[in-house]
Amino acid sequence: MSRRSAPDSVGAFILHDQLLAPLTTWGVGGYAKTLVTPRSRDELIEAIGWLKTCCSSFFTLGGGSNVLIGDGVIDIPVLRTTETRDLRVSVDGENVFIDCAAGTKLSEVLALTIKEGWSGLEFAAGIPGTVGGALSGNAGTLRGAMDKSVVMVQTVEEDGSKHEWKADDMKWGYRRCGLLENTSRVVIGAKLKLSLSDRGLVLAAVKEALESRGLQPCGHRTAGCVFKNPQGHSAGMLLDRAECKGLVVGGARVSAAHANFIENMGACSARNIMQLALICKKRVFEMFGVTLSFEIKTLGIQEEDIYVGR
Ligand code: EPU
Repeated sequence: MSRRSAPDSVGAFILHDQLLAPLTTWGVGGYAKTLVTPRSRDELIEAIGWLKTCCSSFFTLGGGSNVLIGDGVIDIPVLRTTETRDLRVSVDGENVFIDCAAGTKLSEVLALTIKEGWSGLEFAAGIPGTVGGALSGNAGTLRGAMDKSVVMVQTVEEDGSKHEWKADDMKWGYRRCGLLENTSRVVIGAKLKLSLSDRGLVLAAVKEALESRGLQPCGHRTAGCVFKNPQGHSAGMLLDRAECKGLVVGGARVSAAHANFIENMGACSARNIMQLALICKKRVFEMFGVTLSFEIKTLGIQEEDIYVGR
């Protein structure tokens, strides 16, 4: 990385040699040489501007709920968005618009919609992470996903310019957003569209959404589902039938509650998790001929780094 020193305005929110494990829900990950944590949308824009001039690449980290970070030193700068939190609400007839910064927690937005009786985000009950992260993975459940609630996404582009994208241009897919796969494009905020409803109705829908997640492990450090559901199949069911539940590598264990979750039992490394995930993937391929692909994103660790046999 050719590094130009940061201007004072950016230097104020840069830290060096920071442990990333506490910033992820799995609780694993090594040290970032450079961790950039802007505290507002303006600072985020400024930080991206600097990163684009000084570094060939950087990694954007949201709530750390869908990411596996390697155990070694992370050389590329990590841009953490979680301190850029703000919400602006406007109402137009029956429609409610919430403009939120990328780092706003999805659960915070949901809590507001429950309190006010606004409908449209009930599916997000129980989904951790930030608005920016939820958009980049089109987070959702069988009941809905982000693409149904978004009207506009604000980004900083590869050349440093700001852009507002209409939801229809985002190239949504199942657990993906085509436009945000370009990692040099960073979300700085988004406008969600909800509708006026009734508090009781919204709360009931949220409870139902939470109950439908009953299979999922509670009280363990996980990163949600590890693999995407392959077309026409449930990854959890395939992994379960391949007898992956309870498999252990080091401090990582496949959940006994839901086979698509890997739990950190303590003293767990990213390598343990990756190795276990690849053993599970191999079992499913051998038994069903289906190749699972990761839903989680990775930084500083790759499938190719680990050999689990042929
Ligand atoms: N199943 C098993 N064994 C298991 C897990 C699941 O047999 O160990 C079966 C279930 O009985 C059910 C089917 O597989 O018949 C589907 O399971 P589930 O309802 O749990 O849904 P899923 O497809 O595994 C998806 C999302 C979850 C979301 C749930 C609930 C993906 C990869 N996963 O899981 O999202 O919470 O639906 O709507 O799309 C996430 O994305 O991180 C996540 C957890």
